[in-house]
Amino acid sequence: MAFRFIDFPSARDDLRADVLAGLAAKPKSIPPKYFYDEAGCRLFESICQQPEYVLTRTETELMRDKMPEIAAAIGAVDCIVEPGAGDCAKVRLLIDALQPRGLVVMDIAGEALATAAKSLAESYPALEVTALGMDFIQNLAAATPYVPGGRRLLYYPGSSIGNFSPGEATTLLAQFKQLVGPQGLLLIGFDLKKNPVLLHQAYNDAAGVTQAFNLNLLTRLNRELDADFDLAQFSHYAFYNPTAGRIEMHLASLTAQTVYVAGTAFSFSSGETLHTENSYKYRGDEFSELAVAAGWRLDQHWEQGGFAVQLYQIQQD
Ligand code: TRP
Repeated sequence: MAFRFIDFPSARDDLRADVLAGLAAKPKSIPPKYFYDEAGCRLFESICQQPEYVLTRTETELMRDKMPEIAAAIGAVDCIVEPGAGDCAKVRLLIDALQPRGLVVMDIAGEALATAAKSLAESYPALEVTALGMDFIQNLAAATPYVPGGRRLLYYPGSSIGNFSPGEATTLLAQFKQLVGPQGLLLIGFDLKKNPVLLHQAYNDAAGVTQAFNLNLLTRLNRELDADFDLAQFSHYAFYNPTAGRIEMHLASLTAQTVYVAGTAFSFSSGETLHTENSYKYRGDEFSELAVAAGWRLDQHWEQGGFAVQLYQIQQD
């Protein structure tokens, strides 16, 4: 087994500064990467299994059904790179089909990633697995020395790209291009625009797991930033905004209240929200416009059950 885990203390996030700035802003917001503490990672995996949240299952089915075509379009690759790999479950199908020499996975939740990547390395003894505990949104370039040479495939599944604004997504896609180099490829999965009622249900599951995931952010702030959020005074509020083409997730204050976070007071008026995440939905052509603006050239497009996977190469000019 070939496995290494590198934790980047210097490439870490800054929870305190980001939360204090986000709570002082109008409207209030907190970057979604802070959902993923230990409990957040577990709740997220559970969201993906809820009956209303069809996205993960749909993507897996698409990848299974179209894999012969996808693998043929990709061709031989030396290495797969997956930012935000979490439990490392999705990349297995691609490893089976492409048989690369190396795999580099990154995640802000370093400990959880290390455990998952190690067990993946055990199931593929010939694969060289590198796990990087890092905030890749801030520090992607720090990963460069750990990515093996040759033809590299950047894999970004799960509609994670939808959690960035279109402008931020373009910037990130351009950074992906830098990381994989001139012969690099990008395979990316994103959720398509569809019936808003179905989208609404996906982020409002009956079991309340998405609600628990959203509220867990406050539990984390109470623990790690010595905050005093009363969870009973905030409510999960997620809805589809058709004008912006995105699901918005908020925590709504049920009363006028003052909350202390790391010694600073923040007041909420009744009904005011803390914006915790967006999840943009795209049409295929809308998304490829962003990727093209980032320097990628669309090679192939697959679509099934309201989800899309696109393969890109780098524009040669
Ligand atoms: N990126 C996926 C999405 O936007 C998964 C996801 C991220 C998610 N954060 C979430 C799903 C919060 C539900 C709730 O759908």
